Amino acid sequence: IRTAAVIPAAGRGVRLGPGAPKALRALNGTPMLIHAVRALAASRAVSLVVVVAPPDGAGEVKSLLDAHALPERTDFLVVPGGESRQESVKLGLDALPAAYDIVLVHDAARPLVPVDTVDAVIEAVREGAPAVVPALPLADTVKEVEPAAAAGEPEPVVATPERARLRAVQTPQGFDRATLVRAHETVTDNVTDDASMVEQLGETVVVVPGHEEAFKVTRPLDLVLAEAVLARRRL
Ligand code: CTP
Ligand code: MG
Repeated sequence: IRTAAVIPAAGRGVRLGPGAPKALRALNGTPMLIHAVRALAASRAVSLVVVVAPPDGAGEVKSLLDAHALPERTDFLVVPGGESRQESVKLGLDALPAAYDIVLVHDAARPLVPVDTVDAVIEAVREGAPAVVPALPLADTVKEVEPAAAAGEPEPVVATPERARLRAVQTPQGFDRATLVRAHETVTDNVTDDASMVEQLGETVVVVPGHEEAFKVTRPLDLVLAEAVLARRRL
């Protein structure tokens, strides 16, 4: 069984504030995308990494991959991305050669995921799960609200789901390739992760333990945390 990783890296990073596309911003001197590519290529099971680049940045991403030391045993492809994350992932899947039966989808914005988490996701797919997500319990209590009709209005709380049953999901999410392709061909709603598309097909999605260091770099404070984690690893 061959395993490929698709890394959507085509987002602008609006919540991070003005600057280069998020995946191309540096963490301790190395672009976030390179950290993410290394994190996935660190798994011996991953033999191809498909990077989905900012639409006008495929050339720049190719040069970055050439300029940084990456494992010899891994192949790399770069394709331009789309308007939404979903579209970018679909473009990455379209570029996958036939030989790959297992696909991981991993946010470039989660550059520090440990290889043990990557391997645990792959292992669960190999054991037969059509879709696997790494996830962690929540620290905060979560409320469902009725979104404010006008900006600045207080929002009424609708419900408080039982925290012990909630999980915050991360990437890489792992899939039987045919199942993920079918999900991307069938589901047209806006979703925020790939596994939810597989859920909509009625297929089982299972959870394996995630890792604190697989957090997503979303807002400026996350950059501070990511650089501190790298410094602790001496990278
Ligand atoms: N992504 C993508 N194509 C898009 C939008 C997002 O490939 N059109 C990727 C991002 O590059 C990121 C991952 O999807 O690696 C998760 O998305 P997110 O954290 O939301 O990143 P951005 O969309 O770049 O950030 P923001 O929503 O703040 O603009
Ligand atoms: Mg986004």
